[in-house]
Amino acid sequence: MPNSENAPVASAALDAEADWEARYQAGSTRWDRGGPSPSLERWMEVTALQPGARIVVPGCGFGHEVPALAGRGFHVVGLDVAPTPVRQLRREVSQAGLEAEVVQADMLAWQPETPADGVYEQTSLCALPPDQWPAYEHQLHAWLRPGGELFACFMQTGREGGPPFHCALPDMRALFTSDHWEWRDDVGRTDHTNGKYEQLYRLLRR
Ligand SMILES: C[S@@+](CC[C@H](N)C(=O)[O-])C[C@H]1O[C@@H](n2cnc3c(N)ncnc32)[C@H](O)[C@@H]1O
Repeated sequence: MPNSENAPVASAALDAEADWEARYQAGSTRWDRGGPSPSLERWMEVTALQPGARIVVPGCGFGHEVPALAGRGFHVVGLDVAPTPVRQLRREVSQAGLEAEVVQADMLAWQPETPADGVYEQTSLCALPPDQWPAYEHQLHAWLRPGGELFACFMQTGREGGPPFHCALPDMRALFTSDHWEWRDDVGRTDHTNGKYEQLYRLLRR
């Protein structure tokens, strides 16, 4: 018998899959940079993680950061709800002769087999409706080992609605609370061509 408590989560996941897959099918992927974001380089400059660490990249899309991290010797799991980018990323990883796990799953339900050392959060939180943000924050906390790093790229759109939804910093402080997270570094910003930008922070899981 289906668990009725899980029904809304399952239905939201199906909606998200259909919605995002339709964007990929239509080629409507303006967020995609065609290569790793400069934000990743910024994280690599400040991270305490060493090659061999386990990193999750949720909502990875075409996931250019996944092979980039795998090439540096990290154990990477890329995660996305839409089948098209997952297929493409698997192909790309394999053609590059790299090893990385690419999973098609709802990030609000998925759990790693082993706690992660790091999470690279880029344009994933801002893709979710804000009423799902507390559940996502709960997931990020659950995925990471104590002391694990969350590298968060908080999208700044300065406008109502989305996706992408504006991740105002006071709202982020209220979401990533000090009992769950130690806010370590404000490490700058990454600009987008359309006037939006991401504010970069390194947080440690308590
Ligand atoms: C704006 S795109 C960003 C993709 C990638 N992070 C990038 O920067 O190019 C948001 C991604 O989140 C994925 N996504 C949305 N809701 C999701 C969910 N519930 N679980 C997993 N992935 C999801 C979408 O399929 C999409 O690939």
